[in-house]
Amino acid sequence: MSRSHGNAKGRSVTLHMVSSLDGFIAKKDNSVSWLNDTGNVYEAGVSISAEEAAAFVKTIDCYVMGSRTYEHALELGWPYGDTPAVVVTSREWPPTRKSVEFYSGDLKTLVDVKLVPRYHNIWLVGGAMLCQCFLQLGLVDEIRLTIAPVLLGEGLRLFGGSPTEQRWNLKNVVAYKNGFVELSYSAGRPTHS
Ligand SMILES: NC(=O)c1ccc[n+]([C@@H]2O[C@H](COP(=O)([O-])OP(=O)(O)OC[C@H]3O[C@@H](n4cnc5c(N)ncnc54)[C@H](OP(=O)(O)O)[C@@H]3O)[C@@H](O)[C@H]2O)c1
Repeated sequence: MSRSHGNAKGRSVTLHMVSSLDGFIAKKDNSVSWLNDTGNVYEAGVSISAEEAAAFVKTIDCYVMGSRTYEHALELGWPYGDTPAVVVTSREWPPTRKSVEFYSGDLKTLVDVKLVPRYHNIWLVGGAMLCQCFLQLGLVDEIRLTIAPVLLGEGLRLFGGSPTEQRWNLKNVVAYKNGFVELSYSAGRPTHS
C-alpha cells in the first residue's frame, strides 16, 4: 500500500529514524551513547555545519511521534524546539509544551484531516511501534534512514515484524565523514504475494 494524495498536494510524510547496522533503534536500557560519533573519519564523506543543520531543521513543519518516544525525548531534553509536535497516545497527559498536542484515534484521519491540511513537511520520528502502524496503513511517502556505524546486538527492532512486503525506491544516499550513512526512499508500488 502506498500513499498518493500527500504527494499530489505537494505535502509529504517522511519517516526518519537512526538505526544501528544490525537494525535496532534503541538499546534495552534506552541509553543513547551509540548515537554519538565514534571518532572514525570516512574521508570521502561529507560533513554539514551546525548552521546548515539548523537551516534544514527549519524546513520541517511538524513532528509526529509515539508516546514512548515523547517520554524519552522529554527525558533527554526536548530536541524539537517550538516546531509543532503531535504525540499519538491513548492516554491522558498533562500539558508540557505549547507546541505539543496529543492525539488518539484513527491514524489515517490524523494524517488526512489534521496534518496534511496544515503542514507541508511532516516528519514521523518514531518509535518503532508508531512507524510500523504508519507503514502498514500506507501513510508514509518517504523513508529517511540513517545508519550508525555500530552493531548493538540487541534492542528495539526498527520495523518490528511487519507482515506486508512493500517496495521502496531509492532516491538518495549520503555518506558522512563520521561514518553515518543516510538512505532516502520514496514509496513504491505495492507488491501482491
Ligand atoms: N533511533 C531512533 O531514531 C529513534 C527514534 C524514535 C524513538 N526511538 C526510541 O524508540 C523507543 C520508543 O519506541 P516504541 O516503539 O517503544 O514506542 P513509540 O512508537 O514511540 O510509542 C508507542 C506508543 O505510542 C502510542 N501508539 C503507537 N501506535 C499507536 C496507534 N496506532 N494508535 C494509538 N496509539 C499508538 C501508544 O501510546 P499509549 O501507550 O500512550 O496509548 C504506544 O504505547 C524509545 O526508546 C526511543 O528513544 C529511537
